[in-house]
Amino acid sequence: MTNIQLDLTHTRAFIRPEEFSAIEPQVLAAAKVLDGRQGPGSDFLGWLDLPVKYDRAEFRRVKAAAKRIQRQSEILVVIGIGGSYLGAKAALEFCCPTPPISPAPSRKKGPVQICFAGTNLSGPYLAQLLEALGDRDFSVNVISKSGTTTEPAIAFRVFKKKLEEKYSKEGARSRIYATTDKARGALKTLADREGYETFVVPDDVGGRFSVLTAVGLLPIAVAGIDVDALLQGAADARTRYRTAPFAENDVLQYAAARNILHRKGKAIEMLINYEPRLHFLAEWWKQLYGESEGKDGKGIFTAGADFTTDLHSLGQYIQDGRRHLFETLLDIERPEADITLETTADDLDGLNYLAGKTLDYVNKKAAQGTLEAHTDGGVPNLRIAIPEATPYYLGQLFYFFEKACAVSGYLLGVNPFDQPGVEAYKKNMFRLLKE
Ligand code: PA5
Repeated sequence: MTNIQLDLTHTRAFIRPEEFSAIEPQVLAAAKVLDGRQGPGSDFLGWLDLPVKYDRAEFRRVKAAAKRIQRQSEILVVIGIGGSYLGAKAALEFCCPTPPISPAPSRKKGPVQICFAGTNLSGPYLAQLLEALGDRDFSVNVISKSGTTTEPAIAFRVFKKKLEEKYSKEGARSRIYATTDKARGALKTLADREGYETFVVPDDVGGRFSVLTAVGLLPIAVAGIDVDALLQGAADARTRYRTAPFAENDVLQYAAARNILHRKGKAIEMLINYEPRLHFLAEWWKQLYGESEGKDGKGIFTAGADFTTDLHSLGQYIQDGRRHLFETLLDIERPEADITLETTADDLDGLNYLAGKTLDYVNKKAAQGTLEAHTDGGVPNLRIAIPEATPYYLGQLFYFFEKACAVSGYLLGVNPFDQPGVEAYKKNMFRLLKE
């Protein structure tokens, strides 16, 4: 089995080999502190061993619940925000991307459609979702580690009522799944009182590191994605990144490269993709790195861009604007579907020279041309090669980014596992709501 791979070729004009040598001891020290569970936030390192050390009985319950939801419902409404939303959304889009238009209805019962609520406080969004739900059969997976987050709590109120009206209180009970703390929080109290099936967000796994717990695994399994392959990918990555020496360890190399670039004034990292299915992986990554590193006046600002689309909007700035950026390209090597271009008799658009070439060929040339142009323009480019968009490689990616994030945080001198800044807007919002 091949692996995802970090390619630093296009950082060479910006980072000298001796800079890697100079930072090596610091990166190794950060990784040692992490693996030795001696750093700040070390109570939140459950994710490090999750791919091999997880509750087997609960994992079986997750799979059984997924089958039940598939039998009972056409739609699963997943309610959660931040770390209780982005991992599942990223995985669903990576493995089964939303088609640009809804496919024609087929007589064959298709897979369960998964939609998300509680990711915002928009009235129009929720109203539209309820209307689209119509009288179709649905189940709900409400996810909140704290059990007290406002956005999902409000959405859950609405969907709980709708389920109870549609199926009676008893019927609703068998369609609600709560993923939350094992003992604390309003959601846990409610779930116990109402008798919902519950899944646990382990105490030692923070929201943004929770995709490989029931938080991500239940919606992912409901979508029919192979969760065993996902965990296997993460497990293989765990082994590799624990043992590989600095020069061959992509986690350590990624942490080193971004830290060196940050020290040279590169304040923004853009995660770049050329495939729409990767958009939400960047959203997940933005939270992971933004919330883990952005504190104490430090951190790289995380942004995502969808190319070639955003080359027609952000391209000018990236090529020519302030030089405080670097890019990390997510590059899927083998697409699972493609289109071959054909000749036309008149060749009015002048594209006959591409006849016989596939769209993926053109896309890859665009990526290569952009990478070279941006590098020439003073934007260092890192590249992560992903052999295929399969659950196995996604498992590798999740683990790669999580571990590199933790090492990066320690290298920066912050606690990567807290998020004190997230409370500020909440305090103001509650004060204003209660006035
Ligand atoms: O990473 C985090 O801790 C946050 O983004 C949380 O996941 C997010 O705020 C949602 O919190 P909760 O799961 O407690 O509702």
